[in-house]
Amino acid sequence: MIPGSPLSLALPKGRLFDRTLEYFAARGLSIPLPERELVVTDTKGMVKVFIVKNSDLPVYVTHGIAGLGICGSDVLRESRAVFFELLEFPFGSTRMCLAALEESRNGAGQMAGHAGGHAAGVKLKVATKFPVFTRDFFNSRGIPVEIIKLHGSVELAPVLGLAPYIVDLVETGSTLKANGLRIVEELENTKVKLIANPAYYKIHYQKVNAFVNFLKGQA
Ligand code: PRP
Repeated sequence: MIPGSPLSLALPKGRLFDRTLEYFAARGLSIPLPERELVVTDTKGMVKVFIVKNSDLPVYVTHGIAGLGICGSDVLRESRAVFFELLEFPFGSTRMCLAALEESRNGAGQMAGHAGGHAAGVKLKVATKFPVFTRDFFNSRGIPVEIIKLHGSVELAPVLGLAPYIVDLVETGSTLKANGLRIVEELENTKVKLIANPAYYKIHYQKVNAFVNFLKGQA
């Protein structure tokens, strides 16, 4: 039990939300979920939770609205903001992958694998929700790239002819498979992290450290 007012914690909607609540519940931390309420406090009064859109989470923590947040490393990188990373969770890891339609398998592999494998000056067209990661990745390979930013259902881009390649998260692989796509290359494993606004951490470090130890099962 952490005495005093609750810590503020942003949690992302979607798949990660359910897994986080399961992880909390296994440690005796129960978050009530009245229908459609987006601000809830756990039954022990330890954390006040803000339920936010995944990609907005770094915004709330950067502005200090939420002192803490739980977020994938993919979303953290896109924000380009600075946080303290306090804990890496054992759930929610995914793979950031380059993918293409099944039939373009060989051509895509060559382009991704070898900077010189395509015509000089020709940009590789890639649709993604992760333009920062994608630009950094292709820059590091010296491959010219044209990035088309999307906000979801990225797998549609090659199917409809918007872009031949996508960079996206793959978990089970079922979305790729269902849309006739395949992984060309696995680019990075993502991790789920507990982050803190640096100023918030400095002010509340004792309580935050107690919360981290509680999550680790050491409190
Ligand atoms: C994510 C990701 C892929 C899908 C991969 O999208 O961007 O589209 O999940 O999961 P799978 O490998 O298990 O099929 P999300 O479900 O967050 O929806 P979105 O496309 O609307 O962003």
